[in-house]
Amino acid sequence: MPTTLDQHSIPALNKEWEALSAQEVVGRALELFHPRMSLASSFGAEDVVLIDMLRKANAEARVFTLDTGRLNQETYDVIDAIRERYGLRVEAYFPQRDSVEEMEREHGVNLFYRAIDLRKLCCNVRKVEPLGRALEELDAWMTGLRRDQTAVRATVGKVEWDAAHNMVKVNPLLDWNWDDVLKYIRDQNVPYNTLHDRGFPSIGCAPCTRPIKPGEDLRAGRWWWEAEAGAKECGLHVR
Ligand code: ADX
Ligand code: SF4
Repeated sequence: MPTTLDQHSIPALNKEWEALSAQEVVGRALELFHPRMSLASSFGAEDVVLIDMLRKANAEARVFTLDTGRLNQETYDVIDAIRERYGLRVEAYFPQRDSVEEMEREHGVNLFYRAIDLRKLCCNVRKVEPLGRALEELDAWMTGLRRDQTAVRATVGKVEWDAAHNMVKVNPLLDWNWDDVLKYIRDQNVPYNTLHDRGFPSIGCAPCTRPIKPGEDLRAGRWWWEAEAGAKECGLHVR
């Protein structure tokens, strides 16, 4: 039975869930929110782990993706592999056609390399606005955020009140590291994005992601031309 939790019940729940395993958090979140909860999936390694956990717990668990139109072919390939493996109807959200047309006519197709403001405009049109539509009919969303990805993510809770969207946000893999993620994929034989085998730990849109060199930060390949580390967010996870 789905529940609507308000903002005030979250701190106690977060305290309780901090000690739970990722699979337990997934199970509790499904009990509380399904079918008004969906996983936001970019089909990166963390997200395919969560899809495996979700579908093992509930064969109807929901997954949506923001198809920016600029994803790598390898990402589209894993979306199809996951659809087939789990019989999953991936709920895809596209950017608004009018906004993309206007942006490209005004600024060209590769605007993101020219200025941070233009990069953020593209992320807004292709990711943030579609996210708003995806979340409209939900009470909770789930993500594959991990604490060791960025300084801001280090402060996140396993269950949070997402004030930007006025709803609950669940992050079951917060205390996992990169090796934990890879081990789960191997052990459970989960389909994954083959770019991970070619030096891409973090995968976004094709023109904005490149492989990292040994010793580089796991997110160094995202918007690599932007010097300011703090700016390396696309706006999906504002706090
Ligand atoms: S980003 O903000 O820098 O792009 P990142 O790639 O680290 O995010 O992914 C973190 C989480 O955000 C993913 O685990 C997933 O839950 C969500 N996410 C990122 N990109 C997408 C996308 N295109 N569609 C749906 N969810 C996404
Ligand atoms: Fe646009 Fe790059 Fe943001 Fe994708 S990651 S939405 S291509 S700026």
